[in-house]
Amino acid sequence: VAQVSASAHAKVILLGEHAVVYGGPAVALPVHSLTLTASVTRTDRPLWIDSVLYRGPVAAAPAQLNAPVTAITATLAALGAPHAGLAVRIDGEIPAERGLGSSAAVAAAISAAVARSCGVELDEQALFALVQTAERVAHGNPSGLDARSVVSETAMWFRAGQVRRLGSTFGGVFVIADTGQTGGTRGAVADVAALKAAEPARIGGILARIDAHTTAAARDLAADDRVSLGRRMAETHELLRALTVSSPQLDHLVAAAHAAGALGAKLTGGGRGGCLLALADTDADATRVAAALRAAGAERTWLLHPGDLAA
Ligand code: MEV
Repeated sequence: VAQVSASAHAKVILLGEHAVVYGGPAVALPVHSLTLTASVTRTDRPLWIDSVLYRGPVAAAPAQLNAPVTAITATLAALGAPHAGLAVRIDGEIPAERGLGSSAAVAAAISAAVARSCGVELDEQALFALVQTAERVAHGNPSGLDARSVVSETAMWFRAGQVRRLGSTFGGVFVIADTGQTGGTRGAVADVAALKAAEPARIGGILARIDAHTTAAARDLAADDRVSLGRRMAETHELLRALTVSSPQLDHLVAAAHAAGALGAKLTGGGRGGCLLALADTDADATRVAAALRAAGAERTWLLHPGDLAA
């Protein structure tokens, strides 16, 4: 029986997380070195899922798999296909709940592969709608940034659902560091909403300052102004702290990155754990910053070279 598959990759948010939920801009970068693949085969068994967390009928999958299960069932419903006879296998290396877009990547790979197994190639808009359906299950109120960025080949500007590709001749090197602690996107997004309702003027002011940094950062990226971009990242981390979405470990690692010569560092993604993103001027600097971050307690680090963004 023919097997079909589809992949998606991780993403990091350069700037704009949380503010993007309120219509602000965001800039995201693809992480092509971390991918996730869904493979689908036709079987005689009931609808089946095969992942590191669980292997068995979709109907009995644990709650942790609600979002991927939604991706499967929503895709089949959209195609008007029968709810049986497919086995969906998920393989990948994107760590979950680290702000790297794993939930959107799982959904994107599953929806594309399930559709492909039914002879349908989803267009960008149809895929986006299905991933958003799964992301609502995973995160509650997703902006759509993750759904777009895990299938974008290039650096991307995102605002209110609209996407613009950012060509990049940027010369800096990014370091991604995993705190090793799971983040809490759903809770963090809900807490920012509650804060904003309680203190609209103060929180609105913080969100506006994040928006201004993000807008200017797209220019820094295009102009290869690493010093300016690094400063914006550092200032945005402070603004995210004020939104209560950082964590002691993220703050500790951001300080360690700066002490090791990073031009700037900030949490990336939903926060409360997960990953941070640091900017280094050169490859040698990035290697030193990454080593310092691991010495300061980061579980893993990855370098993101500008060549990865060119696509
Ligand atoms: C999560 O990767 C990014 C957030 O801005 C949430 C969202 O955009 O839906 C925190």
